[in-house]
Amino acid sequence: MGRIDTLLAAMTLEEKIGQLTMVASFRAVTGPGAPRDAAEGVRSGRIGALLNLWGADETHAVQRLAVDESRLGIPLLLGLDVVHGHRTIFPVPLAEACLFDPALWEKTARAAAEEAAMDGVALTFAPMLDVARDPRWGRIVEGPGEDPWVASQFAAAKTRGFQGHDLSAADSLAATAKHLGAYGAVTAGREYASADVSERTLHEIYLPPFAAAVAAGTAAIMPAFNDIAGAPTTANAALLQGWLRGHLGFRGVLISDYNAVAELIDHGVAGDTAEAAALALKAGVDIDMMGDAYAKGLPEALRRGLVGMAEIDASVRRVLELKERLGLFDDPYRRGASGARATAGGAADRRGLARDVARRAIVLLTCARDALPLSPDIRRLALIGPLAAARQEMLGPWASAGRGEEAASILQGLTAALPDCRIDHAAGVDIAGDDTRGVSAALDLCRDAEAVVLCLGEAASMSGEAASRADLGLPGAQRALAEAVLDLGKPVVALLCSGRPLALPWLFERADAVLAAWFLGGEAGNAVADVLTGKFNPTGKLPVTWPRHVGQAPIFYAQRPSGRPTKVGDRYTSSYLDLSAAPQFPFGHGLSFSRFALHDLRRDPSRVKAGQAVTISVSVANEGGVDGEATLFLFVRDLVASVARPVMELKGVRKIVLTAGAREQATWRLPVETLAFIGRGFDPVLEPGVFEVHVGLSADPIECLTDVVELLR
Ligand code: BGC
Repeated sequence: MGRIDTLLAAMTLEEKIGQLTMVASFRAVTGPGAPRDAAEGVRSGRIGALLNLWGADETHAVQRLAVDESRLGIPLLLGLDVVHGHRTIFPVPLAEACLFDPALWEKTARAAAEEAAMDGVALTFAPMLDVARDPRWGRIVEGPGEDPWVASQFAAAKTRGFQGHDLSAADSLAATAKHLGAYGAVTAGREYASADVSERTLHEIYLPPFAAAVAAGTAAIMPAFNDIAGAPTTANAALLQGWLRGHLGFRGVLISDYNAVAELIDHGVAGDTAEAAALALKAGVDIDMMGDAYAKGLPEALRRGLVGMAEIDASVRRVLELKERLGLFDDPYRRGASGARATAGGAADRRGLARDVARRAIVLLTCARDALPLSPDIRRLALIGPLAAARQEMLGPWASAGRGEEAASILQGLTAALPDCRIDHAAGVDIAGDDTRGVSAALDLCRDAEAVVLCLGEAASMSGEAASRADLGLPGAQRALAEAVLDLGKPVVALLCSGRPLALPWLFERADAVLAAWFLGGEAGNAVADVLTGKFNPTGKLPVTWPRHVGQAPIFYAQRPSGRPTKVGDRYTSSYLDLSAAPQFPFGHGLSFSRFALHDLRRDPSRVKAGQAVTISVSVANEGGVDGEATLFLFVRDLVASVARPVMELKGVRKIVLTAGAREQATWRLPVETLAFIGRGFDPVLEPGVFEVHVGLSADPIECLTDVVELLR
C-alpha cells in the first residue's frame, strides 16, 4: 500500500475531517509561535491546514506540532494570500495587467513564491482570475481586468510562476486559482451579491481563465462566495464536479472561500450545518476554510446518509496528494530552511524587478503637448495631495508581509530623482473626510512653483474585498483641492492612485496630464519618478474600459451587437439621454512619449479553411522623437453567426520596442480554430463566413485598421 492508502486506512473520522479543515492562525494577534487556539487542534489531528501564518520560525514551530505530536504525523498545509508579492510588493494585479506581458507576470509570481516559501508558506490563494467589468466592485483591483483572453494568459503565467517547475521544490507554492463562479458579475458591483449571468456568458467570459489555470496545472481552485442565479458556487455540483472535474479533468484540491460552506445556510440552500457540509462536499469542495462546517456538520451528515464515507475519503485523498506533491511528507521544513533562503534570488533583484514592473504599470491617460516629461531644468515643484507622501497606501490591498515603512512614497521618489529641484509638499486634504483647512497652504506652495504634481485617489482599503463603491469620484474633499489648484493656471500633472478606474471627466479635461498610478507596490515612488522625469517612456495599457460616469457600469469593449447600434444624435439607438455612451478611455488605451502609427494591414491568405492559419501583419512606425514601446491589439469580429458574436474580441497582443523614427512589422499567426465559439449546443463550433480583423493601439474601433478574412466551407 502506498503512503496515502496506509494513512487513509489508519485515520479516524475526526482525523479525516481534520485534513479537510483550514483555520486562520491569527498571527497578528497571538504573535510568533504556534497560535494558542489552533495548537490543540493541530496536535489532535482536527486541523490539517492553516492560513495567514508566515515566518520560518513560526511555521516550523506549528509544523512540528503536527509532525511530532499528532498521532499520524501528517504535515500541515500552510496557505497565505500572496497576491502581488510577499515581502517585496509588486503592483496590484489590475496594475500589473497593464503590462500585457506574460513573461513579466510570471517573473513577479516566481519572485513572490520564492519569498513566501522562504517564510514557510506552501500555498497561495492566488492568482485571482475574476474577469471584472464593473469598477464599483472593489475586487476589480485583484484581477487582470475585463477580458477573458487576457485573463487566460495571466492565469497561465501566474500559475507557472507560483508553482515553478517542480511543486515539491523549496521555492515553489501551490497556486489557488480563484474565485471560480462569475464573482466579478455581482449585481450592481455590490460585494457578495448574487451574479445572474447566463450560461453562455459564464462559459464565454468568466470560466476561460480557470480553464487556462487548469491547463497550466494549478494545484488548487477556490469557488467564489456568490451564487449564480440561485446556485451558490460552493454547492454548485454541476460547475465543480461536472465542468471542472469532469469536463476539464481537474484533479487538484478545491478550497472553499472563508466561511463559505457555513454561509450556504444564509444563501438559503441548506437548512443546517450538516446540510451545508454535505452540499459542499458533494459538489467537490475538499477543504472548508474557516467555516468549521465540515467539523461540525459532516459527522451528522454521515449519520443522516447525506454523504458517504467514500466521498469524504476522496476529498481527504486529494488533500494528502497535494501535501505529497508539495514534498511536505518528505521534508515538512524544506520551505523556510536556511538553505532555501540562500538559494533564492536576492532582495535587491526583487526590488529592481518591482521598480521595473511598477513603471511599466503606469498608464499615461492624457498628456497635453510638452506637459511631460518634466523639464530637466525644473527648479521648483509643488507636490500636493493626500497620496504624495503616503507609503503604506502604495502597497494596496493584500500586501502579505509587505511593510509600508519600506515603501517608496512619490515624495521620496521625486526627491531622489530631482536632486536640483526644490520640492514643496503639502497634503492639502486627507484621502477621505471634509476638512479643507489645509487647502490654502497647499495653494501657496503651488503659486511659487513652476509646475504642480497632484497626487489624488483612494486609500488602499477602498478597494479589494468588501470595498464596493457606488460613486467613482474622488473621496472626501479631494475634488475641491484639485479644482482650486487647477484654477491657479499652473501646469498640473495629476497622478491617480486607486484600485479601480475613477470617473473624473473634469480632471481629464483640465489637467495637463493625468496618469493612472494604481497601487504600485514598494517601488511606487521611484517608478512614478522614472516616468515623470522621462527616464522611462510609459508603456502601460488599460486592461479595463475606463468609464466617464458610474452610470455606464458595467462597461467593456466586447459588447454584443445591438439591433440599433449607438449613433450619436439618433435617439432610437443604444445610448443614454443624458450621457455619451462612449467610455472616457477605451480598453488598451495608454499614451507614450513616442507617437506610433500603424500602416498596411495585411492578411494572408484572405480565404482560409479549417485546419489552416491566417497570418496577419501590420507595420508600426515610431513617428515621435524618442525611443518607445508600442503595444498592438488584434481583434476579430465574426459578422454573421448562429449566435451573435461580440463587436470585437481580442485574439492577440504584440509589444514592439522601436527607436525614434524606426518602423517594424508585427505579425500574428492565427490558426482558424481560434475563430471557433461556443455554439447553440454549448460545444465549440467553427462556422464559415466573413470575419473582420481589426488591429489597433487600443480597442477604439475608429483608430483600428480593418480588413476581412473569409472562412470557407
Ligand atoms: C477572500 C479570499 C481569500 C481568503 C483568505 C476571503 O475573504 O475572499 O480571496 O483568499 O479570504 O484570506
